[in-house]
Amino acid sequence: MTRVGIHDISLATGQHVLDLDELAAFNGTDPAKYHVGLGLDQMSVLAPDEDVVTLAASAALPLIREHGTDGIRTLLVATESGVDESKSVGVWVHRLLGLPAGCRTVELKQACYSATAGLQAALGIVARNPGERVLLIATDVARYDLDSSAEPTQGAGAVAMLVSAEPGLLTIEPVTGVRTADVDDFWRPVDRSTALVDGRLSVSAYVDALTGAWDDFAERGGVPVEQIDRWCYHQPFTRMSVKAHQRLGRHVDAPLAAEDLDDASRYNRRLGNCYTASLYAGLASLLDHDDDLAGRRVALFSYGSGSVGELFTGVVEPGYRSAERALRHAKTLDERKPVDVGRYRELHRAAVHTSDVDIDIPVASGTPFRFAGVRGGARQYVAAEHLAE
Ligand code: CAA
Repeated sequence: MTRVGIHDISLATGQHVLDLDELAAFNGTDPAKYHVGLGLDQMSVLAPDEDVVTLAASAALPLIREHGTDGIRTLLVATESGVDESKSVGVWVHRLLGLPAGCRTVELKQACYSATAGLQAALGIVARNPGERVLLIATDVARYDLDSSAEPTQGAGAVAMLVSAEPGLLTIEPVTGVRTADVDDFWRPVDRSTALVDGRLSVSAYVDALTGAWDDFAERGGVPVEQIDRWCYHQPFTRMSVKAHQRLGRHVDAPLAAEDLDDASRYNRRLGNCYTASLYAGLASLLDHDDDLAGRRVALFSYGSGSVGELFTGVVEPGYRSAERALRHAKTLDERKPVDVGRYRELHRAAVHTSDVDIDIPVASGTPFRFAGVRGGARQYVAAEHLAE
């Protein structure tokens, strides 16, 4: 049987960063609540000319440069924070990246979960047509109301993955455990730019989805817990994955420890929540920091409020280490420009545009792709000059 899985992975995030110590000082919170209680140190903040389209294209650009576009006949973009109710984020990304016209492009939505549905679809496409590759991108900006209890868990990021036969990073195994339950734990009505959330319910709904998905995984012949070497979770805040991991340990009567998750949470502590991209930012972090992964089995748990959970496993390929990829990801995080709370609040308020007024967005960031404004109701995206040549 052809091996199918993730051939390469790339992370992008916003141009700005807010240190959560600053937010804590602003709202009179003990910073330990954020660093220890939530397991978050920073949040990425977007410049005015960035959004989920520019993040998605920026994440995928290194993959296209390294692997070319041959054989990419499907582009799947998963997001909770799409910018149009009809046109998919992927169609803009397709043009910005110069993908072949012979390509199907679609957007997937189910809160933070949909990238995993995209991954499963991609694996099916590649299993049927091993000569094809699928470009899958998870891209999101997590926005809650200013001064709400969810505010410190905001963030932004995109992860692009090339899904192929004979993958270079992670072969995905066929057994998967899934669970859907109708829960109002987190949602965003179409007239809102910020999510509504029942924080307490969302935490218990996440854990229920995990134990439910695990039971389904086990019933369908998934490997026993002792054959799993590493764990990677959706991380709305990194402490959530620790709570969930320990709860799963009690559920299956296995000693699952918080330290198991350290390498998979390094990027997420600095990004904040990035919804669909969160689990895969965790995977990138694990691959970039753990130097003993070859041949190891990783369990991945994906959760999207509302709610859908999926647990599946993959085996890491021997040549997974890439100093170049790890350095690129470190630079992406290290080179963000700090903003103070005042500027962050201005950017938060200014991020929403109505479509009935033309606007030009001046160049605000040094990113390869920019949101340039709205013309005749349509959003405009441009590539930096050196890419457009
Ligand atoms: N030092 C150390 N720890 C402290 C502390 C201090 N000074 N003060 C508080 N803490 C701890 C608390 O004890 C608590 O830890 P435990 O849960 O382990 O007891 C933790 O910090 C958080 O404190 P609170 O529960 O008081 O925090 P809160 O009520 O202000 O908000 C939240 C927490 C409900 C998660 C809120 O941030 C929120 O609504 N976030 C958005 C929703 C979310 O992320 N839900 C996660 C599951 S849903 C999902 O996964 C989908 C998604 O992406 C949204």
